Amino acid sequence: METQIKSVDTSVMRKKPLSAYAADMQKSQLNRVLTRWGLTSLGIGAVIGGGVFVLTGIAANQWAGPALVLSFMMAGLACTFAALCYAEFASILPVEGSAYAYSYGTVGEIFAWFIGWNLVLEYMMGATTVAVSWSGYFEKLLHLFHIDPPIWLMNDPVTAHEKADMLRAAGQAVPDFTFAMNLPAFLIVWVVTYILVKGIKEAASTNNLIVMIKVAVVIFVIIVGAFYIDTANWTPFIPEAVMKDGQQHYGFNGMVTAASIVFFAYIGFDAVSTQAGEAINPRKDVPFAIIASLIICTVLYILVTLVLTGMVNYKNLDLKAPVAQAFADIGLTWAVYIITIAAIAGLTSVMLVMMLGQTRVFLGMAKDGLLPKGLFASIHPTFKTPWKSTILVGSIVSVVAALTPIDKVSELCSSGTLLAFAMICGAVWLLRVREPNLERPYRTPALPVVATLGILANLYLMWNLRVDTKIAFLVWGTLGIIVYFLYSRKHSNLNNPED
Ligand code: ALA
Repeated sequence: METQIKSVDTSVMRKKPLSAYAADMQKSQLNRVLTRWGLTSLGIGAVIGGGVFVLTGIAANQWAGPALVLSFMMAGLACTFAALCYAEFASILPVEGSAYAYSYGTVGEIFAWFIGWNLVLEYMMGATTVAVSWSGYFEKLLHLFHIDPPIWLMNDPVTAHEKADMLRAAGQAVPDFTFAMNLPAFLIVWVVTYILVKGIKEAASTNNLIVMIKVAVVIFVIIVGAFYIDTANWTPFIPEAVMKDGQQHYGFNGMVTAASIVFFAYIGFDAVSTQAGEAINPRKDVPFAIIASLIICTVLYILVTLVLTGMVNYKNLDLKAPVAQAFADIGLTWAVYIITIAAIAGLTSVMLVMMLGQTRVFLGMAKDGLLPKGLFASIHPTFKTPWKSTILVGSIVSVVAALTPIDKVSELCSSGTLLAFAMICGAVWLLRVREPNLERPYRTPALPVVATLGILANLYLMWNLRVDTKIAFLVWGTLGIIVYFLYSRKHSNLNNPED
């Protein structure tokens, strides 16, 4: 009897053969229903949300002043480099899994795992922080109708006690409580989970409706707000730098810090690449949707920022709901209702696409054996969605949003995304060098320049995040490496290349 000796590559830099992606696509049980504009709408659905409705206030008021528009351009440029690189990858490898899948075929397993692990920060932590913002806006909406639920029902235990202490210190009587949870955040996550389990068509049509509402309201803000611009508010355009708590506010450095903060507003356009498995014509439409959604959102952001800083002096911009408050300040109180409802709708679609993206990245990783297949790659026979994984993601997001002060670490979400963007810029370049003859329906223009600028710009923004965020990021990364060596490396499909 002849014994064949298999040679198995056990290196942590082993790569998934590009031929295996084609086989994966053929075996895919997902429904291919997403069109070019459906994908673009998913991109916009994931992007416009808390960033523009909430963070513009802090970023202009405390860091950049009217120059916030330059911060938005800076962050938008860093994203553009990444988007151009994502688009080339998406045209070569139209599979779910996004940056994770792209780097598995090009750079190596541990690198791909690390990107996948970072995408958890982007998608799952993103969805969780957005669920908390959603609850904040929902509370505001209830307040507009004179409904004020108790603190313990609208906040996680830590935040609830902090708020109660603040109110008591201000002389208000707040009854004692022992239990607290953010009920609206918990419930909205389950509504989204339900839609996601039911099917990609349902998810896409819910998203389309929401995108129409939020884009209409953003355009409304731009057009109506433009009539209330006082150009004196734009002077000085870049306020003079001041030092506060060891950090430079305003001036050039303040503007860069603001760019790192509002980078969050752009997160999500890359989520389109996680839905390649459900696209009708992924090779052409996914690259189109990535770039189109980014361009549309960048233009809207630049205009909103100009209008906002023109309507209200940056020193007076509200820190929590700057857009709604700007309209309240000029006496258009009815507009506050519209903006609040749009923000709630907008944040719902951000959650929807982020959770969708997370389950598709997990699906890609599980198919490769790096995560348990039974849980993360199990597709529902009727709905054709990864239902177990969706319910698991829904459970984690809902519980964390309801019971922890997660919103305080939202910058972590940006850090994971920035690193993934920088890594993708490097990976697409590497693939051009290693496999110059691959069919590339879309080619990144001037790749060496775009990739280099993409790496530098995204790492620079990452460097400008707070020190606490960078430490938390290192802890998260270390945890990822431990899981890789304890589980994923041992279960990788590449251990059995003939399968
Ligand atoms: N870009 C998304 C938002 O701003 C995450 O809510």
